[in-house]
Amino acid sequence: MHDFRYKNNELYCESQDVREIARSVGTPFYLYSHNTLVDHFRKIEKAFKSVDPLICFSMKANSNTAVCRALVREGAGLDIVSGGELYKALRTDINPKKIVYAGIGKTRREIEEAIRADILFFNVESLPEMALIDDVADMLGKTVNISIRLNPDVAVKTHRYVVTGTSESKFGIDFAAARRILERTEAFPNLRINGLHVHIGSQITRSRPYIRALKRVYSFMKKIPVKIEYLNIGGGLGIVYGKERPQTAPRFAKAILPIIKRMRVKVILEPGRFIAGNSGILVTKVLYLKESLQKNFVIVDAGMNDLVRPSFYNSYHNIQPVVRCLQKRAPYIIADIVGPICESGDFLAKGRRMPLIGQGDLLAVMGAGAYGYTMSSNYNSRPRVAEVMVIKNRFHVIRERESYRDLIKGEAVPRELR
Ligand code: LLP
Repeated sequence: MHDFRYKNNELYCESQDVREIARSVGTPFYLYSHNTLVDHFRKIEKAFKSVDPLICFSMKANSNTAVCRALVREGAGLDIVSGGELYKALRTDINPKKIVYAGIGKTRREIEEAIRADILFFNVESLPEMALIDDVADMLGKTVNISIRLNPDVAVKTHRYVVTGTSESKFGIDFAAARRILERTEAFPNLRINGLHVHIGSQITRSRPYIRALKRVYSFMKKIPVKIEYLNIGGGLGIVYGKERPQTAPRFAKAILPIIKRMRVKVILEPGRFIAGNSGILVTKVLYLKESLQKNFVIVDAGMNDLVRPSFYNSYHNIQPVVRCLQKRAPYIIADIVGPICESGDFLAKGRRMPLIGQGDLLAVMGAGAYGYTMSSNYNSRPRVAEVMVIKNRFHVIRERESYRDLIKGEAVPRELR
């Protein structure tokens, strides 16, 4: 469910006409519905109410301060993976004890910053990382909470780039190694191991792999000499992009709560996509229609630098006209919807059946609220697009479109070249 709907054949975000926003901010831009964000957060919260979970929104999906703040105000924590995300997280006025920090390559500086910020804990992904955290904690004279990220070696059906819980993946620590660590905790006098973490992948539409992973974690938990207070079950809940029929939050909760309850731990979830994915769209304008010998191309003003998911994962996003044709049997074309970037891999959709559209028309790329802006770049020296949030019947620019000046920010020309 989301708040992007047609009224009289015009696309609205909540009570705001999308075309009017485009007229005001120009294209392309990301557009988020505040109500959808909050609603998705509440759905998970409600589904897991019986265990009073801490739901840490995964900032990598969408780290815009207004987006994160909207969720933090609802009681969300934040799942971070870098010093930059910590910096941004702290700007949302979050209680730092609701921040969890994952990632396999934390630097000494990042670790120090997070310890100083007094976050809830680090999700630790290797022995040398643990040693480094212990060392930094010692230097700062603090005892630091950590949770061990386990690699449960569970296969999931999703894009191979977003599988994270199999033994060939770079994430987490296998059970045998984790047990060895937990049997010699005295080697890390400045750490308190109080949690276990698993994140098996992303865009997972069924609960079965979670159950499989949790069963393994539970049997591991029973064999270790350390009392586990927190179980962080990661994120990964799949959403509808096209034809998927993912589990709903209540069904997911119903499937995994029995095993979680047996573990008697505080539960943390780290959903990103589930909350933000369908809360946002990318609005783009048709620049040209072009016919080659073989194909129709709809050339739009948003490219792979703005939304890389189709190019990178071959992922499907629904693409809809912002103003729908009134005719019952509107003519249609089959076209590749492509951006202006100088790469053949720059496309938003391939062989897509589209209502016949014209130059200057607006299109909405649906399901772009997660891993959209956060994965965007300046490739081809294209300024990053604006982000806009609708709250009820008002829209707010929550990030300005970059300017050409922003493109050279920090660049310097050595005197020899002047
Ligand atoms: N927790 C950890 C440790 C993660 O690595 C991730 C995502 C999440 C939580 C949130 O996962 P979610 O609930 O959003 O599935 N760029 C890809 C997705 C990469 C996910 C990386 N890790 C995409 O656009 O599909």
